[in-house]
Amino acid sequence: MTVNRLPLKQLSAWRALTEHSQVISQTSLKTMFGVESRRGARFVVKEPGIYFDYSKNLITGETIRLLIALAEESGLPSRIEAMFRAEKINITEDRAVLHVALRAPREEVIMLDGENVVPGVHGVLDRMADFSSRVRSGDWKGYTGKPVRNIINIGIGGSDLGPVMAFEALRHYSARNLKFHFISNIDGTDFAEATHGLDPAETLILVCSKTFTTLETMTNARTARRWLVDALGSEESVRNHFVAVSTNADEVSKFGIDTDNMFGFWDWVGGRYSMDSAIGLSTMIAIGPQNFRAMLDGFRSMDEHFRRTPFERNIPVLMGLLSVWYAGFFGAETLAVLPYDQYLKRFPAYLQQLTMESNGKQTTLDGRRVDYQTSAVFWGEPGTNGQHSFYQLLHQGTRLIPCDFIGFCRSLNPIGDHHDLLMANVFAQAEALAFGKSADQVREEGTPDWLVPHRTFEGNRPSNTFLLDELTPQALGMLVAMYEHSVFTQGVIWQVNSFDQWGVELGKVLAKNIAPELDTANSTVLRHDSSTNALIDHYRSRKTA
Ligand code: F6P
Repeated sequence: MTVNRLPLKQLSAWRALTEHSQVISQTSLKTMFGVESRRGARFVVKEPGIYFDYSKNLITGETIRLLIALAEESGLPSRIEAMFRAEKINITEDRAVLHVALRAPREEVIMLDGENVVPGVHGVLDRMADFSSRVRSGDWKGYTGKPVRNIINIGIGGSDLGPVMAFEALRHYSARNLKFHFISNIDGTDFAEATHGLDPAETLILVCSKTFTTLETMTNARTARRWLVDALGSEESVRNHFVAVSTNADEVSKFGIDTDNMFGFWDWVGGRYSMDSAIGLSTMIAIGPQNFRAMLDGFRSMDEHFRRTPFERNIPVLMGLLSVWYAGFFGAETLAVLPYDQYLKRFPAYLQQLTMESNGKQTTLDGRRVDYQTSAVFWGEPGTNGQHSFYQLLHQGTRLIPCDFIGFCRSLNPIGDHHDLLMANVFAQAEALAFGKSADQVREEGTPDWLVPHRTFEGNRPSNTFLLDELTPQALGMLVAMYEHSVFTQGVIWQVNSFDQWGVELGKVLAKNIAPELDTANSTVLRHDSSTNALIDHYRSRKTA
């Protein structure tokens, strides 16, 4: 399938933005806030449960007008509809992109290839709810009759990062009598440490893999199976201790897991968009079906906001357009995500896959090489820890790094004045980045001249601030959907397919070829480049030393 559209840089809005960016480069946040006293209230979107302040960006009303013109000229409105209407917008894999169906209410109808997909979604959710309740209540028994105390999620990428992030984010709501462990890395250390001290008879293993062929996951799953069967002395025990989450029933059966113990999803759910599908089984066991449904409601509210709100007040659209603005016109290479909530400690890692696997692309939908930057490198750490690590570079380094600050108005653990102090730091950091501290101010404080440049902060460093009421399951759903749709917006403007990931394939194939060559008994002549050959030789000579 080919898609013909004008190359991005030939769009009139892009050309207008190029000129306009020169104007913006001549001004500063300090000046813009100085001339417009209400700026901090103007560039704000308030939706139930979320306050989005984007006033500390290098923008004027004209910038937003032009960025929205770019979105319109790029066909964003019709692309959004195409996604929600189940068109096969993932053209390189000929698939619909329907993660929004995962949170559709029961009565909604979403037709794909002549079939309404919503009943299937709710069918799986209902089975998950039933199973989760049985595990949580102790009704589901292990092979020896003991109730489950440990849950191990085995998966990688989207089959791990979402579950880990959601478990950590919603730990406050989790059943504390159950212990959750996540194994993703093929490094045996991950398995050894996660299972250390666990009693297999009390352990439930969720093997999560969309394809059920992923090397890391299948290797870990086989090891887990051996660990269990060796301890319990019977293959029969697999039935009580293994559950599969996958789209691939054949492979699940081949592995030896009864498909009665399988929770399915569909090829129209991308791995990195799957934490609210059956891939979220560990989340549901942890927080219970009711909280899981509240999380889905949060996703849904952001879906509706994205689909129906004019772009001027559309949070994911504005976020996406700002990312395009900085990547395209200010040379921004990275974007820092800075959640001021310890529960969101894995949120930046989760976003790395969501954003970079989606938009880390160089080929447009019609097969051309892009001549502009696409996805920024996403990274981050929870505040305030990051402040004592890399914020120096954010404030005084040579790069422009837009920041997303995420904070909550109420703490789930209100202890003394911790929360006010935490939030004071959110506001202070965004303020310091934007307005800095001039050389004159530093001098007036009595700083000797030679020290003044070291203590000066240029400011003019952009950020978004997201204030949510409280870290509830619903708020988490809203937050994740917000980034999902921001990623979508960016992908449309950059004219890339945000839903494939061909870039991960080559390394997988090469590793498969190399693995047998690492066997010291293998004497075949190595036919790689001289560097790879030498590395393999060195490894082989040392591995048993
Ligand atoms: O290698 C990348 C990837 O395909 C991701 O897109 C995906 O989330 C991950 O591997 C795991 O895939 P699976 O769920 O099929 O095991």
